[in-house]
Amino acid sequence: MAVLLQRHHAAVACLLLYYLTGGLSAPDPRQREALIQLEASMQTGGQMVLTDVEQLLDALLFKMKQEEIARADFPPAMHFFKARDLIRTSPIFNLLQKMPKGGALHVHDFGMVDVEWLVKNVTYRPHCYMCFTDIQSVRFIFSSRWPKALPHCSPWTLLENLRAKMVNTTDLDNSIMGNMTLFTDQDPETLYPSQDVIWDKFEQTFLALWGLVTYAPVFRDYYYQGLTQFYMDNVMYLELRALLPEIYELDGSTHDAAWTLKTYQEVTRQFTADHPDFFGARIIFTIHRGVNASVMASVVEEAMKLQRDFPDIMAGFDMVGREDRGRPLWYFRDALSLPVERGVTLPFFFHAGETDLEGSEVDQNLLDALLLNTSRIGHGFALLRHPVAKDISRKRGVALEVCPISNQVMKLVKDLRNHPAAALMSENHPVVISSDDPGMFGSSGLSYDFYEAFVGFGGIRSNLGTLKELAINSLRYSSLTPKQQEKAVVLWQRRWDTFVSENAF
Ligand SMILES: *[C@@H]1O[C@H](CO)[C@@H](O)[C@H](O)[C@H]1NC(C)=O
Ligand SMILES: *[C@@H]1O[C@H](CO)[C@@H](O)[C@H](O)[C@H]1NC(C)=O
Ligand SMILES: *[C@@H]1O[C@H](CO)[C@@H](O)[C@H](O)[C@H]1NC(C)=O
Ligand SMILES: *[C@@H]1O[C@H](CO)[C@@H](O)[C@H](O)[C@H]1NC(C)=O
Ligand SMILES: *[C@@H]1O[C@H](CO)[C@@H](O)[C@H](O)[C@H]1NC(C)=O
Ligand SMILES: [Zn+2]
Repeated sequence: MAVLLQRHHAAVACLLLYYLTGGLSAPDPRQREALIQLEASMQTGGQMVLTDVEQLLDALLFKMKQEEIARADFPPAMHFFKARDLIRTSPIFNLLQKMPKGGALHVHDFGMVDVEWLVKNVTYRPHCYMCFTDIQSVRFIFSSRWPKALPHCSPWTLLENLRAKMVNTTDLDNSIMGNMTLFTDQDPETLYPSQDVIWDKFEQTFLALWGLVTYAPVFRDYYYQGLTQFYMDNVMYLELRALLPEIYELDGSTHDAAWTLKTYQEVTRQFTADHPDFFGARIIFTIHRGVNASVMASVVEEAMKLQRDFPDIMAGFDMVGREDRGRPLWYFRDALSLPVERGVTLPFFFHAGETDLEGSEVDQNLLDALLLNTSRIGHGFALLRHPVAKDISRKRGVALEVCPISNQVMKLVKDLRNHPAAALMSENHPVVISSDDPGMFGSSGLSYDFYEAFVGFGGIRSNLGTLKELAINSLRYSSLTPKQQEKAVVLWQRRWDTFVSENAF
């Protein structure tokens, strides 16, 4: 269908061009109008047929957009940390929060919940110990006994005792929070002057919250809380990239990856039982790309086993960590070829092209991901500079998971109007919008990223059809079976119709 439309567009464009170059007369306004219409029809959502009620809402949205763009501070042009308060007061944002957005397909296990919950809820639980590292970060552990000291960290203190000695714990709580997120009230450009600085801090934040979220009772609650936050933001389905780390109990005993995956499955079932209009969640097993080839081979073996044992919850496999510092996909080609050599299914969902280092080894990840038969591409920020990869991605329907706020905070782009996905969406390249690690960026759910995509990428031109197609994309490009997708789309459509009729007048 997409290919047919593309051919159709090409034919129309040729025809128009023929007329344009045919005569030497003054430009014809009707031809101009036809060209404008042609471009508009090519964008994401450009082929959507809107109902009468949808058209009313679309007209309302158009008015809101014009007012938004006339504002002195245009949020998508600003750093998200400074724009967040502005966005919160935006009527468009308000509408996007209510909009059924479908699925979130690119979210990481320990970045899905806002860190305030971690501090206010988790660090107030009993048996929580904290130490201060050499580089002004913090580490945590829950333990029934006094835990053994960590290298490069102060002796452990029981948080309960520490807080009991204080008159006012606000400053302590804020400093803990500051260690678990990138979000800051300071000037982000000064605090994070380079990609190296922000990636270092990013890795520190994960280490800081690690001991909290890998404690078994917290692990369950954290995931349930994460599902709640996405659900409250009108997201009905989630594909979570998860490290499946060792999870520990108060007595120090630990659980393996299969236990962790099973726990995800149980909590998901519990959540959908409590919220029947939530469709569900699936897990993409991830490993840090810092490992070597032999470790990768054994992890891929494990992934194949998990895929076989938990086919319902397990969606596939991916790697995490900064692409520019890690090993390229090609280095792992033997390990990543194991499934296809054995005739075993292990779908891949590779992060690729989250870089602006053109021409490096890592910059080849986009093509290599496609060679390795990836089902989607995480970020694909560099796709515009790879015409062949772009072509394959479009023809095979390998969607890009675009995470606008993440790309801005991690310093790939400053002004979101200049994000490459703006160009990709102007020709309806397969994309979905996601939020990567909302807890790290001070956002939550999907609405902030939808706002940036809708107002920033699309400018005045993107419309209700764009939003509708993006939401449908998030189910169509999910790892759900075609039958499940049908079911999910029906459920989504019902909620969409309600949303439209409740907001069109
Ligand atoms: C912490 O979260 C748990 C699980 O969501 C909840 O049951 C509990 O009431 C919360 N406690 C506080 C102090 O907020
Ligand atoms: C605690 O300290 C914070 C920041 O220092 C302050 O804003 C707050 O009012 C204090 N709370 C109380 C109860 O004194
Ligand atoms: C992290 O915690 C330490 C110790 O409480 C504190 O000195 C430091 O300022 C915190 N960092 C941030 C960014 O809040
Ligand atoms: C790969 O890494 C593992 C774990 O760090 C290590 O034990 C092993 O020796 C490494 N293998 C090679 C070939 O370097
Ligand atoms: C590519 O991946 C899909 C999804 O996992 C799978 O169905 C298909 O068989 C794979 N094709 C090849 C050639 O490996
Ligand atoms: Zn990611």
